[in-house]
Amino acid sequence: MNATPSTASPTLDVQSARLRALPTYLFHRLDKAKAEYRARGPGKPLIDLGVGDPDRPTPDFIVSALRQAVKNPSTHRYPPSKGSAKFRQAAARFMDRRFGVSCDPDRHILACIGSKEGIAHLPLAVVDSGRTVLCPSLGYPVYHAGAVLADARPVNMPMREASGWTPLWEEVSPQDVQNAALMWVNYPNNPTGASVPLEFYAQAATFARDNSIMLASDQAYSELYYSEVTPDSLWKANGLDLEADPFIEFHSLSKGFNMTGWRIGFAVGNRAVIDALAKVKGPIDSGVFSAVQEAGIVALENYDHEDIAALRAMYTERLDATMDGVQKIGAKAQRPGAGLFIWAQCPKGPDGQPMDSWDFAMRSIDEAGVSLVPGAGFGNDGTHWFRIAMTVEAEQMAEAFERLAAIDWTA
Ligand SMILES: Cc1ncc(COP(=O)(O)O)c(C=O)c1O
Repeated sequence: MNATPSTASPTLDVQSARLRALPTYLFHRLDKAKAEYRARGPGKPLIDLGVGDPDRPTPDFIVSALRQAVKNPSTHRYPPSKGSAKFRQAAARFMDRRFGVSCDPDRHILACIGSKEGIAHLPLAVVDSGRTVLCPSLGYPVYHAGAVLADARPVNMPMREASGWTPLWEEVSPQDVQNAALMWVNYPNNPTGASVPLEFYAQAATFARDNSIMLASDQAYSELYYSEVTPDSLWKANGLDLEADPFIEFHSLSKGFNMTGWRIGFAVGNRAVIDALAKVKGPIDSGVFSAVQEAGIVALENYDHEDIAALRAMYTERLDATMDGVQKIGAKAQRPGAGLFIWAQCPKGPDGQPMDSWDFAMRSIDEAGVSLVPGAGFGNDGTHWFRIAMTVEAEQMAEAFERLAAIDWTA
């Protein structure tokens, strides 16, 4: 019997409730405004200080390592999902040489397909549905998304300028603290550019232990620093113990080695947490391409290579140009000691108060062809702030701020 084709439109809800609960990606609105500016052309070319994606190529010594590795057919097969023993050993050596943290590559290290993959999957591995995930109120959106995708509830820890943009967990409601299974911290911080001393991690660990919460630290920007004080590992803090504390830290090769597209990072954590994350990855992905792991080994073994130091020197020049520019537009910013971003308070608007960050960002694109990220896109604590990514050359950074300085923001 032939079924009569239905003419009614299907009512199937394609997206799960989980997906529908995900917030819209911050960059969609900016992308639309940028496309409109370009379509209006021929204006001045758009200067994009938005997405934190390093503009320079991956250093040659890492690219050469990939070229070599990819010629070896053994790299063409499925990689070990946890990362090769050699990659995990290189990661452990890096932890030791760079941070003075000693760990066992077999028990404490797990390769990730970029740290984002591990960050997104962690709640699936360690948080039961309905539990709370404590997230910085200004932060990388994946902490929230990972919680939502695990049917958990993201709850913000407020962050303010007066407390150095550290998460104020003492302001979270006792019910949310009691229900919390996981808590994220991220320094050098995206978006605020803030850094923390080691005591911060000791305090976070105490709070986490006292409330039976797993602590997760995101160190994606640890290799971009501009002062003598280099970012530290959570595991270096007083009293922290890889064997005893159910905590985890994520490292990335993306920003410090200009390898964002390669998709490689690693987690270093307590064995039970590493095993849980590896268990989630097992049925979902098949690990990092082995040739990329080989190149990653060369990167980690040579983290002190002159090309990496030159990258930091280049960012220092950009930082100088940006700090000058920020002053020119009457915005307020603290010079960051590390990271890829400068976080600045919006210039004063018609009412004499710092402008709303979306108004400022939209006018910057529309009137100056300069794209910045409105702080409100990260969370309410950023309503009057904006983020500048140091992802164009110093001369272009300077030009961006000259264009912005020509605008009367009080009009
Ligand atoms: C704070 C933070 N953590 C983690 C990541 C993820 O980096 P990747 O997946 O490239 O290692 C990013 C990327 O922008 C980030 O800003």
